[in-house]
Amino acid sequence: MNDPRTLHSIDLHGHDSAPAAGENLRSRYASIRAHSVNLVKPLSEEDCCVQSMPDASPTKWHLGHTSWFFETFILEKYEDAFRPFLPAFRMLFNSYYNGIGEKYPRAQRGMLTRPALHEIMLYRKKVNERMEGIFAHHGDDEAFRMLVELGLHHEQQHQELILTDIKHLLSLNPLKPAYREQEEETSPAATAIEWHAFDSGLVEIGHGGDGFRFDNETPRHRRGSS
Ligand SMILES: [Fe+2]
Repeated sequence: MNDPRTLHSIDLHGHDSAPAAGENLRSRYASIRAHSVNLVKPLSEEDCCVQSMPDASPTKWHLGHTSWFFETFILEKYEDAFRPFLPAFRMLFNSYYNGIGEKYPRAQRGMLTRPALHEIMLYRKKVNERMEGIFAHHGDDEAFRMLVELGLHHEQQHQELILTDIKHLLSLNPLKPAYREQEEETSPAATAIEWHAFDSGLVEIGHGGDGFRFDNETPRHRRGSS
């Protein structure tokens, strides 16, 4: 029997092969979507299915939910003959968008042994292929580009969640499995925590500039600080 503390690899060959990072939105889409899959490669299928607590989600769910976002908010809007990959996914992978309809209970996401991981990988692949078609026809459409930008930042949020959630899950295992082998033995020492003084008065908070921001980061406004 294999040592259960060792890493397991999922054969994801053929799913989202990682492209070089590019400058334009289309290549950023491919690169960021592929990164989600790369994060999963050190995990076993069992690792991907378990939910360690109600506030965490299974890796598998994150992979489905991020594809659901592109399917629901972009493919449905831009495809002439839109048909969902699987109608049930609309409910399974909805998180908190009440306007979209029913949601599967968050605390029970770890019960979803079906769809299987390979089916969710197929879902991702099909969504990516369909997104390619939309890029071809609407790649210069400003509203489309804004939605893609939002979807990519949403995907990156969930990449952080994949890592925090899997670290919590693995931390509960007495076999002390590692997410992956440490790549460098010599990591820099953390900077000591210290207090920083600042002047009291009116300060500006909120997003400034032209770059991407989520809606809860605006409007920029003044607040008293003491
Ligand atoms: Fe989300």
